[in-house]
Amino acid sequence: MPDVFATYSFRPEKGTSPEEAARWIAEEETTGTWTKIGTTADYVRRLDGEVTRITPEDGHYIVKIRYPAEIFEPGNVAQYLSVVAGNLFGLKKLSAVRLLDMDFPESLIPFPGPRFGIRGIRAIVGTTNRPHVGTIIKPKVGLSPEDTAEVAYQAAVGGVDLIKDDETLTDQAFCPMKERVPKVMAGLGKVKEETGRNVLYAVNVTTRADKIVAKAEEAITLGANMVMVDVIIAGFGALQALGDAPGITVPIHVHRAMHAAMTRNKEHGIAMRPFARLVRWLGGDQLHTGTVSGKMSHEADEVLGDNAVLTGPCFGRKRVFPVSSGGLHPGKVFAELETLGTDIVLQAGGGIHGHPDGTAAGAMAMRQAVDAFMEGIPLEEHAKQHYELERALKLWGIG
Ligand code: 6PG
Ligand code: MG
Repeated sequence: MPDVFATYSFRPEKGTSPEEAARWIAEEETTGTWTKIGTTADYVRRLDGEVTRITPEDGHYIVKIRYPAEIFEPGNVAQYLSVVAGNLFGLKKLSAVRLLDMDFPESLIPFPGPRFGIRGIRAIVGTTNRPHVGTIIKPKVGLSPEDTAEVAYQAAVGGVDLIKDDETLTDQAFCPMKERVPKVMAGLGKVKEETGRNVLYAVNVTTRADKIVAKAEEAITLGANMVMVDVIIAGFGALQALGDAPGITVPIHVHRAMHAAMTRNKEHGIAMRPFARLVRWLGGDQLHTGTVSGKMSHEADEVLGDNAVLTGPCFGRKRVFPVSSGGLHPGKVFAELETLGTDIVLQAGGGIHGHPDGTAAGAMAMRQAVDAFMEGIPLEEHAKQHYELERALKLWGIG
């Protein structure tokens, strides 16, 4: 059976050689401990981790470690992470260590992958190749169900393809799911009648692991045509439960709040890439991977690499729709699309609801910017004929 390989960047602690530091990772995560022990029977040695290659790079070292496939319990992602991303981060022999990527054989990916993927979502919405535009209802918490539905209606009638709850909105008393979902969906039904367009509403069903499937089923019964989970916070098991449950008949939008606690530090922690792989295996249909021009810091190469994990080959699993979100507005649409391509969901909260003429105009301006890109028309040029876009660019500028 092919084995698992994990790639780390690391810096050894003073007085420790790179070889020794790397060996500490391989041993800590497999059969070893800090000293020689007398209980390692010979037959156990086949489960030893192996340092396969160490390369110096910009004051760091990159190491590839081989973990024997047999160490992993097929299908148990929590256990996978306990090996490739477990105790190693605290080892004193390394002053910093970051998991960059991981390569698992097909035998350890007994998961169905996304139910819908990019094509399935495009089929629901009725698009072929243009980017989708989404919005987060803003203010992200505090609105009543009625006002949430009104904002959603305005955004949808203006042209968004997707509306989503914020990660902080679940089922609080000020906006219970039971009231919010039917009201929002009624508004989207009206938009369908008025414009013929299908708009998705991702209802945040994040909750404790043993309740999440029932919560998602309840949201679907209430009319939700997409559910959303905060995957880092709720855990990969929560996504797996949704991905496997036969009652979850709608696409799953995956938010990544809290990821930056692990992904932001370039020296220490976990890069986004391994998380992107897990989300695809476990059935996420959309995943936030960041912007190249927005309010949270990401490097283009990193986002592109993460998106490639979502959309490149993966043992025949469907492709996940990458979501670019955080500080976007119409003036940033070209920067995002030029770098990230058009198989992308561009999400704007403030960049839609903060439009001087309101939410519907803000949604129109985003769509106009996307249309300009798709038609190869310079943004300022297009704005001359499109009032909403012109107003947005005047307020926020370009780039
Ligand atoms: C989400 C994100 C979202 C985000 C921005 C969006 O809920 O989808 O967490 O909060 O990335 O904060 O809002 P703005 O477009 O207003 O930045
Ligand atoms: Mg948010």
